[in-house]
Formats: sequence, C-alpha cells, structure tokens
Amino acid sequence: MTPLLLPMPGNEALAAALGRARGWPVGAVETRRFPDGESYLRIVTDIEARAVVLVCTLAHPDEKFLPLLFAAATVRELGAPRVGLVAPYLAYMRQDRRFKPGEAVTSKHVARLFSGVFDWMVTVDPHLHRYHALGEIYTTPSRVLHAAPLISAWVRANIPKPLIIGPDSESEQWVSAVAKDAGAPYSVLEKVRHGDRNVTITLKDMHAWAGHTPVLVDDIISSGRTMIEAVRLLTGEGWPPPVCLAVHGIFADQSDRLLAEAGARVVTANTVPHASNALDVSMLIGGALAELADMTRTPAPARLGREQGS
Ligand code: R5P
Repeated sequence: MTPLLLPMPGNEALAAALGRARGWPVGAVETRRFPDGESYLRIVTDIEARAVVLVCTLAHPDEKFLPLLFAAATVRELGAPRVGLVAPYLAYMRQDRRFKPGEAVTSKHVARLFSGVFDWMVTVDPHLHRYHALGEIYTTPSRVLHAAPLISAWVRANIPKPLIIGPDSESEQWVSAVAKDAGAPYSVLEKVRHGDRNVTITLKDMHAWAGHTPVLVDDIISSGRTMIEAVRLLTGEGWPPPVCLAVHGIFADQSDRLLAEAGARVVTANTVPHASNALDVSMLIGGALAELADMTRTPAPARLGREQGS
C-alpha cells in the first residue's frame, strides 16, 4: 500500500504537490483549540494500516509541536506501521550550545523528542553551524536536502549580472556554491551579532564588481536584521537595490515589510509559505520520498542508518 501524506494545518499545498509528485494519497487532520487553550486533534482519513508521512513545516514552532506529536502518536495507535516527518523548515537548530550558564540547548532536546517519535525525517537546509550534520543530535534517520541549486537556477534566470553576497562567514558554504553554479563572483561580509535583533555588518571593498546587481544569499531571514542592515549598507554605498534570497523566510517583526521599504526584492523557498516564495522545493522533497519509499512502507524493526545525503 502506498503511504498516506497527512498535512498539518497550513501544509496542505505542499502535501498536495508531494501527493501529485509521488502518486500518494493525501489525507486530512482536523485541529482546533478548546476554550481553555488545549488542542483538539482528529485524524479524519482512515489510516488502513498505511505508513504515514506527516507534513509540517516548523516556523513558529511552539504552537505546532504538541499537535504534531499528538498526530504522530494517534496515527500509530490507528495502525500506521511507520511514521515519517517532512519538515521543510526545521526549527530549534540555532541554540546549538550553552552560550550562558544554565541555558537550555534546545536543539538537542527537540532532536531527542523527535527521534523518539518519528521513524525518519526529511528537511531542507537545517541551520547547521556548530553541528555539521543532523546525525550529531538526531538518532532517527534523516535526509537533508539543499536548496542551493534552486537558488542558483533562479539567479541565472532572473539576474543578468549578479554579485552574490553572503552576509556572514557562516553563509560562505552557500554563497560559494551558488556563485559557482550561477557563474557569478561572490563576496562574504563580516557580521557581529550583539543580540536577537542587533547585528553589525561590515562591507568589504567590492568596487571591482561595480555594475553588478547585489544578491544577498542566506539560509534564513528571521528577525530580518541581517538582511536589513546589509541592504542599508549596500544602498548607502550607491549599489542598486539588492535582491535578498533566502531558503526560509520567517519574517518576524514585519521584516518582510521593512525589507520592501528598504528597496529590496525578497525571494524565498516555499519551505515556509509566504508571498515571496519563488523557489519550489516540492520536487526536491518528492525525489527524496521516492528514495525513502522502502522506509515509508515497511515496519521498522530497528533504526536504519543515520543521516544520508547531507
Ligand atoms: C546566521 O546565523 C544565519 O545564517 C542568518 O544570517 C541569521 O539567522 C538571520 O537572522 P536574522 O534575520 O534574525 O538577522
């Protein structure tokens, strides 16, 4: 029997695209809040002993975690032999160490929780900074997909003379790959983060590329401060309005509006639904699901290998 894709609220479009790509049925989950704030959840579709793939992107995660865990537990009770997770955006990857005494290293706690619940998971460009692979903290098998080829294809198709710019040293892994693929020069800026919403960025001398369109590339726009500051500095130096390309657009603090007001064009992937989505990850994820087909169909007597393909 083919697996059943089950979208958590807000993930219906991606689940439908994955269903079309794989020829798998898409079921429905009903959720609502009781007056006291607790969650109600019902699996509307008959599981029929099918393996289940829950589809749930995890932007603004705290409100999503409990319903997702309830859904996973319920489909197992209803007979799903395997339960996988497609989380195009995987939250809680950035607190990857204890910066101050007593802080929770939440990346590890979430990894332990999810590894105990899901038989496998697929995600797109998780924030790997001090961790080099999800397998360092996730014991459930994981497949990490990369949006860099989608970004470079978009740049090739839309920007005649791009200069790819990474806002910080962490972004060099991305920026160098995108620039190579797009046949463009690149530069990496220097960033110091002073707090959640406070960053200082230093531009490098990029006069050699005058006449190019600056294309800022990052994995995530969260508070937007990184992109906003980079746009402000670039336009202040007389560069044309930059294009801000990110995989995951969280856009806290109305940073999408602030970036537009600063003159930037913002482009993101549909790992988090937003008006700026122009990079479609559904074929990427659909391809991974095809490779994971055995894992999605048969019961798992033991955990399979760790992270693949990252
Ligand atoms: C850096 O660690 C990341 O790659 C991003 O640059 C950063 O997380 C963006 O965050 P914000 O939008 O809050 O500046």
